[in-house]
Amino acid sequence: MTNKICPVMLIRVLLFIKMLKKNIFNKIKLIEYYKLINYNLIYNNIAINRYKKDIFEISEDKAKNLELLKNSIKNQKNCNLKKQAKNIVFSDGNPKSKIMLVGEAPGASEDEEGLPFVGRAGKLLDKMLAAINLDRKKVYISNIINYRPPENRRPTDEEIKKYLPFITKHIEIIKPKILILLGSTAMNALIGNDVVISKMRGNWIEKEFGNCKTSVIITFHPAFLMRQPAQKKMSWIDLKMIRDKKTKLKI
Ligand code: URA
Repeated sequence: MTNKICPVMLIRVLLFIKMLKKNIFNKIKLIEYYKLINYNLIYNNIAINRYKKDIFEISEDKAKNLELLKNSIKNQKNCNLKKQAKNIVFSDGNPKSKIMLVGEAPGASEDEEGLPFVGRAGKLLDKMLAAINLDRKKVYISNIINYRPPENRRPTDEEIKKYLPFITKHIEIIKPKILILLGSTAMNALIGNDVVISKMRGNWIEKEFGNCKTSVIITFHPAFLMRQPAQKKMSWIDLKMIRDKKTKLKI
């Protein structure tokens, strides 16, 4: 056997070492680049969802889902509305109902009693429901916001954004066949921002909230009707549409 190194072999080894060095150098450069662009933050398998609050998975147990939802709302951090309110105003009525109503936010009476629509606007709502042979035990009622805004002011866009995942989940849990949105805050939050209630009311909109497909109708808020009684005739048209839909869907 000869100890001589064949030149071709030597060149190959040298080329291999050079390629290896280049490869390692490139890898180091790539790692540095990934660090620079915060690769882990962007491409981590666990998605960072800054906008959608994934509260919990809905199970078959409606009562349990509602309890979990209520606790999620109660356990929120840094909520000024919650800090200033006396009670959470979660819902009233029958969770098995196929008709759900969503208002804006609790007022003083609702904050006191922990129930939605029990003040003056609530009394008018009861009359509106009675006019189409419904009452609050036959429907399910909630609000976009679950704590009273101070001085009954309108909830801010930021507050609505914060509570939107909760009311959306609430609708998904109840799975109504008919969803009645009372007033422009509920309409803007759940349907979209660029619409005017006077144009949107009195129409059926088919909408999906998660796996809940529902027929949505927008109508005037009872507090608005107390200020503008002339609009009650429009509200009556909407109520009759709800009555007819109820019959059609055999609810
Ligand atoms: N107005 C609302 O929108 N909701 C209530 O619960 C009471 C008044």
